[in-house]
Amino acid sequence: MYTKTQILDLQNITKSFLQNPASIQLDSLRSVLKFHEYQYYILASPLISDFEYDTLYQALLKIEKANPSLITTDSPSQRVGSSLQNSFETKAHLVPMLSLENSYNAEDLADFDRKAKEGAELDAIHYCVEPKFDGASISLIYENDILVRACTRGDGVAGEDITTNIKQIRSIPLSIPLASYGITQMEIRGEVIMSKQAFNEFNKKLAEKQLSSLANPRNAAAGSLRMKDSTEVAERNLDAFIYHISYYQLKKGAPVPELLKTHSGSLELLWNMGLRSPQKEKKEFKNIEAVIQFCNEFESQRDSLPYEIDGLVIKVNDFALQEKLGMTSHHPRWAIAYKFKARQATTILENVEFQVGRTGAVTPVAKLKAVAIGGVTVSSISMHNEEYIKEKDLRLGDTVIIERAGDVIPQIVQSIATLRKGDEKIISFPTSCPICDFPLEKEEAEAVWRCNSPSCKAQIVEKMIHYVSKDAMDIKSFGEANIRKFYALGFLENIPQLYTLDFSKLGTLEGFGKKSIDNLQAAIEASKTQPLYRLIYALGIRFVGETTAKTIAAQIHHILDLTQLSEEQLQDFEDVGVKVANSIYAYFHDEKNIALIKQLEVLGVNMIQTNTKAVDGNLAGLNFLFTGTLTQLKRSDAEEIVEQKGGHILSGVSSKLNYLVVGEDAGSKLEKAKKIASIKIITEAEFIDLINFI
Ligand code: IVH
Repeated sequence: MYTKTQILDLQNITKSFLQNPASIQLDSLRSVLKFHEYQYYILASPLISDFEYDTLYQALLKIEKANPSLITTDSPSQRVGSSLQNSFETKAHLVPMLSLENSYNAEDLADFDRKAKEGAELDAIHYCVEPKFDGASISLIYENDILVRACTRGDGVAGEDITTNIKQIRSIPLSIPLASYGITQMEIRGEVIMSKQAFNEFNKKLAEKQLSSLANPRNAAAGSLRMKDSTEVAERNLDAFIYHISYYQLKKGAPVPELLKTHSGSLELLWNMGLRSPQKEKKEFKNIEAVIQFCNEFESQRDSLPYEIDGLVIKVNDFALQEKLGMTSHHPRWAIAYKFKARQATTILENVEFQVGRTGAVTPVAKLKAVAIGGVTVSSISMHNEEYIKEKDLRLGDTVIIERAGDVIPQIVQSIATLRKGDEKIISFPTSCPICDFPLEKEEAEAVWRCNSPSCKAQIVEKMIHYVSKDAMDIKSFGEANIRKFYALGFLENIPQLYTLDFSKLGTLEGFGKKSIDNLQAAIEASKTQPLYRLIYALGIRFVGETTAKTIAAQIHHILDLTQLSEEQLQDFEDVGVKVANSIYAYFHDEKNIALIKQLEVLGVNMIQTNTKAVDGNLAGLNFLFTGTLTQLKRSDAEEIVEQKGGHILSGVSSKLNYLVVGEDAGSKLEKAKKIASIKIITEAEFIDLINFI
């Protein structure tokens, strides 16, 4: 996409813009930002820090704000989403969006090859093979270099216009250099996906907010495309692969680009234009035997990819041959999907347990006859809520199909009704709490039944488990098992009692030697100085995850300041919407909660937002980066220590960085850090002193 000279030029312009903002020119600034987006989102190798990118991006916004007439449709600023309700108009595709025929084994592939050879009147056909991305298909139209439309597949003939949402996906460029290939208009096809990492992170965020998790990356991607609020799409960190040119129009007299003679060439052309095609992933083969061997070998690599694929796609490489073979109304005759075996298994739904969480939510958990699936034994799967059981018509004794997608939590796909013998039992949801018998309640528009009893034992225990957990107060030696044990023995009845635990009693318990009691005591003591955000998170306020807790903590001094804020004021905090504000307000206007907080304060728990100096027992709010070879510590251990003490590891040098720890043979990071006065540059020995001191 960029030549070496262009890269050098763009880097130089970047540097001069950063050093001397007065020299910024609008056109070059856009090119520079586009270049860095390409480095980051397509090549995954950024050349500047997020902070530097943001500095330049803010400069762009400033110039465009002062001169709105200069805004272009492909300016990087035009990705900005809108929380206005999207409405999706139906638009016809230029060329119908077909599906693919499926194959599952070598015979199917050999059959496909035989038919293709017959149709082409050839003895051997060259194929190009690429991943079958497991996401949601899209069709994009670029006209005169600009992305003008993005649609879902719809019924194949027409889809829904989702352009605003698609612009939130950074690996889809807002403009591409079509004109330099003599092309005026091009329609391309691809798949929007969510990487396994983005999926896990997004689900973690949902869990923190006590919202139900997404089932798998495919659903996550597909669901995102039709979201009403495009700013929410941006938060999902979606990605896209482009694998097919369905139509292109040449400028009068322009020759067909050489690369547009084969599928493999077209992937290269797309890549050269700055689109994320499977250029690096594709493989070419001279006959079907080699394709079959590759398909067999590749399946084992499936789990090591950063995104989900459900197979491979085999395409006749030569475009002239593709045309000769043509298509049915459903699929092209020149391509076939080779589907991997689904990571599915069948087993028996033996029992259902109803578990009560810390917010009183009652979750049905399926107890299954243990079965191995994708290398993991599964015997228990969450059924989320009553709706889930009803929708899938799950019954006790049913044979059920279960599925595991990648490293994702297993799901029940469906029950097999035809295998029922007649003695299967309808699952009835309890009307009262399985632990304390309090009548269950369901809020309007919620799927979850809750026990709202303040004295429900299950909730008390779950709240304590959450309080001591790693992301909350991080009381190391505690953990779930000890909380349950101490509660059962009557040593511990509520959160404040964690701080008044009678350690002399513990000595009588099996497995509690002097050393483990000392460790426990020290960990409890240490938790008193945890940063404020951890306490806010640890209290288990509904919808307040770790991120929200951090935002709130940064805006207040004492935790009880929150009793003084109105719901409107709370909504002014970033990341806090109506629902969250409502929940925080309710929490801090409940006498019982205030009494709990005051009790904890008397017991010595930190209630105050401390500043960012590393003086009071933690590295909270401080950013670290290591460079060069450390000689005394392993880099991963050093990073873990920082995180354990509440600090963060940054990915590059920026003015957000507080400490650069320099090992032997440090390189460019050190040079870069020297230019930023606020960064403290310390040696490994000084770092060790710092953490020991703290
Ligand atoms: S080619 C005419 N290539 O799989 C071209 N499709 O099950 C047809 N898919 O509808 C599509 N990865 O949404 C093609 N590398 C790939 C693909 C791919 C995923 C999807 C696509 C298609 C579906 C068929």
